[in-house]
Amino acid sequence: MKFGYFDDASREYVITQPDTPMPWINYLGSEAYFGLISNTAGGYSFYKDARLRRLTRYRYNNSPLDMGGRYLYLRDNTTGKYWSPSWMPTKSKLDEYECRHGQGYTIITSKLNGIKSSTRYFVPLGESLEIWQTTLTNENASSVDLSLFSAIEFCLWDANDDSTNFQRNYSIGQMEIVDEVIYHKTEYRERRDHFAYFACSEKLAGFDTIREDFLGQYRGWNEPQVVETGKSFNTEAHGWQPIGSHHVKVSLKAGESKQIIFILGYQENPKDDKFDPPGSQIINKKSAKLVIEKYLQAANADKAFNDLRDYWTMLLGKFQVNTPDEHTNRMVNIWNAYQCMVTFNMSRSASYFESGIGRGMGFRDSNQDLLGFVHMIPERARERILELSATQLKNGGAFHQYQPLTKRGNNDVGSGFNDDPAWLVLGVSAYIKESGDWSILDELVQYENESGSERPLYEHLQRSIQYTLERLGPNQLPLIGRADWNDCLNLNCFSDTPGQSFQTTTNKDGTVAESVFIAGLFVLACKEMAGLAKYCGDNVELEKVTQAAAEMEKIVWKAGWDGDWFRRAYDDYGHVLGSKENIEGRIFIEPQGICIMAGLGVENGNAVKALDSVAEHLATPHGIVLQQPAFSQYYLHLGEISSYPPGYKENAGIFCHSNPWIMIAEAMVGRGDKAFDYYMRINPSSREEISELHKCEPYVYAQMIAGKDAPTHGEAKNSWLTGTAAWNYAAITQSILGIQPTLDGLEISPVIPSSWDGFTVTRKYRGVTYNITVKNPKHVSKGVEKVIVNGKQVERSLIRADAGTGEVHVEVVMG
Ligand code: BGC
Ligand code: NOJ
Repeated sequence: MKFGYFDDASREYVITQPDTPMPWINYLGSEAYFGLISNTAGGYSFYKDARLRRLTRYRYNNSPLDMGGRYLYLRDNTTGKYWSPSWMPTKSKLDEYECRHGQGYTIITSKLNGIKSSTRYFVPLGESLEIWQTTLTNENASSVDLSLFSAIEFCLWDANDDSTNFQRNYSIGQMEIVDEVIYHKTEYRERRDHFAYFACSEKLAGFDTIREDFLGQYRGWNEPQVVETGKSFNTEAHGWQPIGSHHVKVSLKAGESKQIIFILGYQENPKDDKFDPPGSQIINKKSAKLVIEKYLQAANADKAFNDLRDYWTMLLGKFQVNTPDEHTNRMVNIWNAYQCMVTFNMSRSASYFESGIGRGMGFRDSNQDLLGFVHMIPERARERILELSATQLKNGGAFHQYQPLTKRGNNDVGSGFNDDPAWLVLGVSAYIKESGDWSILDELVQYENESGSERPLYEHLQRSIQYTLERLGPNQLPLIGRADWNDCLNLNCFSDTPGQSFQTTTNKDGTVAESVFIAGLFVLACKEMAGLAKYCGDNVELEKVTQAAAEMEKIVWKAGWDGDWFRRAYDDYGHVLGSKENIEGRIFIEPQGICIMAGLGVENGNAVKALDSVAEHLATPHGIVLQQPAFSQYYLHLGEISSYPPGYKENAGIFCHSNPWIMIAEAMVGRGDKAFDYYMRINPSSREEISELHKCEPYVYAQMIAGKDAPTHGEAKNSWLTGTAAWNYAAITQSILGIQPTLDGLEISPVIPSSWDGFTVTRKYRGVTYNITVKNPKHVSKGVEKVIVNGKQVERSLIRADAGTGEVHVEVVMG
């Protein structure tokens, strides 16, 4: 069953019924000011950091779902009837409803009793504010007398403190209300230099800032007494729970429309110019007023919206494909790329599954996210790399996370996730392949953010490699540390204390447990490093990493190969995991993916063997599960992985992040039909028809789909913020469609379903637009017979970066 449809021409997903299986959300903002918004206007806003600078409140884990948002209420003043045009929170039955989620904006339109309401929510580029543009239309034959109320609940900035420290917080709320603007200035009197404002374009009939007045004692957002009576209290909050509500009276003749604009924004003032007049306690509103005045004018708001649309046309225009498959087209052209940008901005901080007060930016996560957005915004990828590598430890290891606001490594989580450093090599290499910007390797970057410790980025990469080499275990495989990519395989943790963090508890000395996954990742990182070293003319490093990779490969064949698949690890007792010797956890997806991606077994046939084992033991119609058989009980020596009930998350869930590794591996052995088949199993658009089972948004990937051992097999969770976005983007664009940025230029080597006649791609790459046509007259899956660049046949399928300027036409004939 579907709850909406894709409008590809508008690049929107259109939700046609408000009670979706879960709130289906979208994101507003692209630089500093962000918001989450659901299809019924739920969600919240923050400036830069979802924990430390939260503007509005949201109630996670609430029943009913999705409480707190950007609410509007309409009241017919003749009949006294009122409703929410976004359905929530009054849940009135609407005659028409539609929510359009686009890139950085959401439009909710509805109709009840002939009153049409349409609100466009977005954040203008370069601004720290959001605009709600509401148009009301009277489609009745006679005039109507309406009241429109806005309603938000302010958060007292630190979202964690806001939801726990009531003994203080109930006494600190402060507001100012001047003309049509409600200012929230809690703590501005002391150390904060920022405040929030909520403005309206119309003369007000009234306003409210005290929550219990607006709602009424013991009443909810579904039946505010002010809306019910049509009378605001015009009060200023002191302490308790400050809110912002404007009341606008609108009379509309038959057929008449009116636009009303609300602005919710964040403003900082210089520390020594906070008050006006100086010495008073009144906010200096000069800068805020300028921007408010600007965007309360419809023409400026419209222009800002058009600029946002153009910006996305430009970003998405960097890679556009036309294949015979609509799900591929819309995910690549619109939604997957968009999700990659959102994960770039949010990392794993704020979604409907991540509370915004938990994790900082992950070292491995951010390096992998880069794969999905580097072609859209290479300059910001560069910045991100330099930020990340400045948190690297001197021994080559990495803080597992860092805080977006301070850009410092997070001491609470610390380091010791032994896969972390290798991802930096992959991230940097992906950046250079895309941009051709070799200068990044010479950038002087600190270690542990310590001044005086600056060394060229190139040396950071060398230390990353060295880190693994200095941490080998009894089989000469890399020691796993706290965990590798699989955060839940905690082989040195042995935790029997409820509530203890699996990731940061270590009570083994860590000298025994080894990871075959890190071995594969290390080989891959060495190969990438070899490419960089060769370009830099550093033969010593080239020699070193080539040899290190070859040795590690030998070790993998000796200790990491199980006969039909790659093993997973050795535990603290030195026992193997991911082997026929195991009763549970006999085969894992991760080492199959990463080892083959590193090239292991591609020549000797073992890759095909391993992939056939994946198909036999791990593949389901809903995607490939992480491991089998699922752990039926908690194992002290395995950690969090066995803490999950079978079929969920890392315990044999379909952990979507690792599925594209198998797609890439299938492509590497030339099996285009299989690669594409796996791609389709988790492609959200192709799962749209089963939305009642899948439950999450059909336009973005979820981290996890319940595996075959779970009672809810096929149900997705943790949508939006997941490495799944970047890896699927890489798998489809680089491995299946085969448009691969390399250090030398664009390599075109598709591995596609044999039924396809071909496809076309427009790819902007290093300042040149490549118009690529791939033809598949013989219906093969793989193999390039002929490549014609600007009318001339060339030798290889590598289009050198200097092949032309402006526009380059490429024709590839498979065969
Ligand atoms: C989750 C992992 C995640 C980790 C982060 C675990 O509870 O299952 O997917 O990586 O937390 O700390
Ligand atoms: C989610 C985490 O963000 C990521 O770092 C990790 O690799 C996966 N979970 C697997 O545990």
